[in-house]
Amino acid sequence: MKKKRFLLVALAAIMFIFTGCSKSSESGGEADKNSGEKASGETFTLKAGHSLTEDHPYHIGLLEMAKNVEERTDGKVKIEVFPLSQLGAERELTEALTLGTADMSVSSTAPIVNFYPEIGIVDMPFLFESREHAYKVLDGEIGQELLKGMENIGIIGLAWGENGFRHITNAKHPITKPADLKGIKIRTQENPIHLDAFNALGAKPTPMAWTEALTALQQGVVDGQENPIVVADTYKLFDANQKYMTLTGHLYSPAVIMFSKTTWDKLPAEYQEILSEEAKKSGDQIRELIKKSDEDSLKVLKEQGMEIIEEVDVSPFREAIQPVYEKYESEFGKEKIDAILNTK
Ligand code: PAF
Repeated sequence: MKKKRFLLVALAAIMFIFTGCSKSSESGGEADKNSGEKASGETFTLKAGHSLTEDHPYHIGLLEMAKNVEERTDGKVKIEVFPLSQLGAERELTEALTLGTADMSVSSTAPIVNFYPEIGIVDMPFLFESREHAYKVLDGEIGQELLKGMENIGIIGLAWGENGFRHITNAKHPITKPADLKGIKIRTQENPIHLDAFNALGAKPTPMAWTEALTALQQGVVDGQENPIVVADTYKLFDANQKYMTLTGHLYSPAVIMFSKTTWDKLPAEYQEILSEEAKKSGDQIRELIKKSDEDSLKVLKEQGMEIIEEVDVSPFREAIQPVYEKYESEFGKEKIDAILNTK
């Protein structure tokens, strides 16, 4: 596993050396000294990656950002958007950003935890009651500090987007209570909190990158997975043995639009400002589109014959994961967790 991951990161690094952030100078200025300076005639071509399909809001939001940035910089900053993990799965791509071998990505927070454990606080199960609750926390002091803290790992966290509330799908039977999860092999993201939560629920969690998950579902290596409704739709999980979906909403999946600090520091301040503003707009657009997609995607899943368990009493699920809260109180601070839970 480790060897495979190393090879993927090495491959991403080699790809970047040949294809990554490229600059062409019309002025002959030294690009590496650009940060904080006024823009000269240089052109920057940046590559942005994500793991989802071209009809997913991540892609639509990034394309809109690319268009606006290009317009506002008179064509001097171009962003090329790569879907479907073409630049690496979320964990690999995040690592590449920290190493300066990739420029930009939008990723759910779960795999970022492997490099920046503090961000794990927003990956606690049943933390957010609603989208509005999540927006208040993420757009407030706690969320903004988490973005700022990414600089310590060589990443500039520009804005929050989202992938939506996560729900459980599986091939075996309808899940209405934690006991139904007993023995179910479920693919989770590569995140220790998610792993603990599914262990506490009695399932058999198997963390893996999304790039491996589809095959694992198709071949029956795992029985189920958990993701927002839009992912089940855009990835046609009904064709990967997923017959049942339970709307547990056990996790809200925030997403971060982020840059490698190495790339960021090469950009003139004027362009950095434009990128920050456009990333925020793009994050808001992604949130809006994901919210809208829930209803449409649910309709598709039903039409495709999936049985959707919509009315779920989540209190037994919430109770079962309480030990996870006790475990992570010392890591994230009980006060901070309570501050999030009590944000109105
Ligand atoms: O399950 C995951 O790994 C993520 O939710 C996904 C599908 C890559 C989107 O961020």
